[in-house]
Amino acid sequence: MLIRLTYASLLAHDCGPTCINDIVALSAPANQSRGITGVLAVDGERVLQILEGPKEAVVQLYEHIRKDDRHHGVVELDRAIIKAPHFEAWGMVKRSMADAVMLSETL
Ligand SMILES: Cc1cc2nc3c(=O)[nH]c(=O)nc-3n(C[C@H](O)[C@H](O)[C@H](O)COP(=O)(O)O)c2cc1C
Repeated sequence: MLIRLTYASLLAHDCGPTCINDIVALSAPANQSRGITGVLAVDGERVLQILEGPKEAVVQLYEHIRKDDRHHGVVELDRAIIKAPHFEAWGMVKRSMADAVMLSETL
């Protein structure tokens, strides 16, 4: 079963652009190896991430990400069963918040 999980959080003050780029650089191949794809959007301290893939893998990753002290205030916004991944070209890609909102409106 495939799911799409969307959450919002707030970045830690010491997690700036380099920290975000490091997260994306590590996440893209790590996610792809688990069949997970998605988008990470950052606007100031606000984060929105969409994760798609096999249910167990996505939930396990989300539970892992929740505990990362580079962000806090993690709130799950949506969890839905999907027929096919929308972001299958991207293990994890960084987009502006405006682009991510537009992308999520096409889901
Ligand atoms: C906002 C945010 C988003 C993250 N997204 C992912 C992700 O999509 N995939 C991933 O493997 N790690 C992601 N991470 C990093 C994980 O929390 C974790 O550091 C990484 O999986 C390595 O775990 P390990 O140090 O236990 O091996 C994210 C971290 C943060 C703060």
